[in-house]
Amino acid sequence: MSQEFIKVAIPHVDEQEVAAVKEVLLSGNYVSGAKVKEFEQRFAEYIGTKYAVAVSNGTSALYIALETMGAGRGDEVIVPPMTFFATVASVLYLGAVPVFADIDPDDLCLLPQSVEEKITPKTKAILPVHLYGAAAKMDELLAISEKHGIPVLEDCAQAHGTEYKGKKVGSFGHAGAFSFFATKHMTTGEGGMITTNDHKMSEQCRIIRSHGMTGRDDHVRLGFNNRMTEMEAAMGLVQLKKLDSLNKKRIDNSEYLLDKIKDLPWIQIPVLINNVKHTYFWCPIMVKPESGKTIDDLKKHLTNSNIGFRQRYSEPLYKQPVLKTLGLDYSKEFLPNAERIAGNVIGLPNHPGLGETELNRIVRVLEAFGKQ
Ligand SMILES: Cc1ncc(COP(=O)(O)O)c(C=O)c1O
Repeated sequence: MSQEFIKVAIPHVDEQEVAAVKEVLLSGNYVSGAKVKEFEQRFAEYIGTKYAVAVSNGTSALYIALETMGAGRGDEVIVPPMTFFATVASVLYLGAVPVFADIDPDDLCLLPQSVEEKITPKTKAILPVHLYGAAAKMDELLAISEKHGIPVLEDCAQAHGTEYKGKKVGSFGHAGAFSFFATKHMTTGEGGMITTNDHKMSEQCRIIRSHGMTGRDDHVRLGFNNRMTEMEAAMGLVQLKKLDSLNKKRIDNSEYLLDKIKDLPWIQIPVLINNVKHTYFWCPIMVKPESGKTIDDLKKHLTNSNIGFRQRYSEPLYKQPVLKTLGLDYSKEFLPNAERIAGNVIGLPNHPGLGETELNRIVRVLEAFGKQ
């Protein structure tokens, strides 16, 4: 009989979230009330920024923050080619052009040198992604930002609680964008948050997220409905209290796994840069190209062994067909690190619900793969 399937990610919710949401449901106050305000305050305190603005999801956090940075038609925004497409879509949604810079093979985040090479007079923002729970090289990126007078928007959708030199990501750039989608470090089902120290930016974000309104009947700029509900905020407040302990388990699980498998001859583990507290949204491993093994063989082996995994992003995002439909031609783009790495990263199950029995089973399955 085959062993139970090990899921790659699950939400971590108990009676506390149920009670918090139930209280709001019974109160009859569902929109833009005390819970949203409190969640914003607590989240800003946690990240270490003066302000936080709750929104409907991580994608809207990105495009609202970018819009306040002035990114629009004819402008360029520098993005990595290895991320969820929402990072790029937020740029496209504003009519701006995504300009791809290469990634660092050690941490899989934006490579600062490549970013600097891509700056033009049209560059309106730099959009690093803290991929898989790592942290992009913020010192170097902020130095480039300052030198050229270009704001930085940190995509923190995969890095709640990740630290760079002892400070939380989302507090370095001119703004940070978080997602609370169901599989993230903490969740509100769907949901997002913008963090910033800039009061004016936070106020503009609040206006854009709610129909561009400053009063009940005053629409001062184009906005849509990107609000977070009170139910989501109530759930978020409970999840935020649990975040550090959930992250600790996630980190412990990932370090346990990586330590046991790091010497397998076919495995390559993306190197963590110094001074980063990685929160392992993913527990990422790669297959050494010279090992004779392939990522497809590994996927088949994990599937046959009833072990869940993630594999994204399969190609550098400048190859996505949607870009052509928008009249953008990236056919000559070739970023060597992204070309080599995209499609070759697997995320192993590492979520806080896993114990040693499951982790040891994953180790045994990976050891067996090497002997095939
Ligand atoms: C790196 C990155 N950016 C943006 C997003 C978009 O967040 P959401 O799904 O909440 O819109 C995600 C979400 O999964 C993500 O992983």
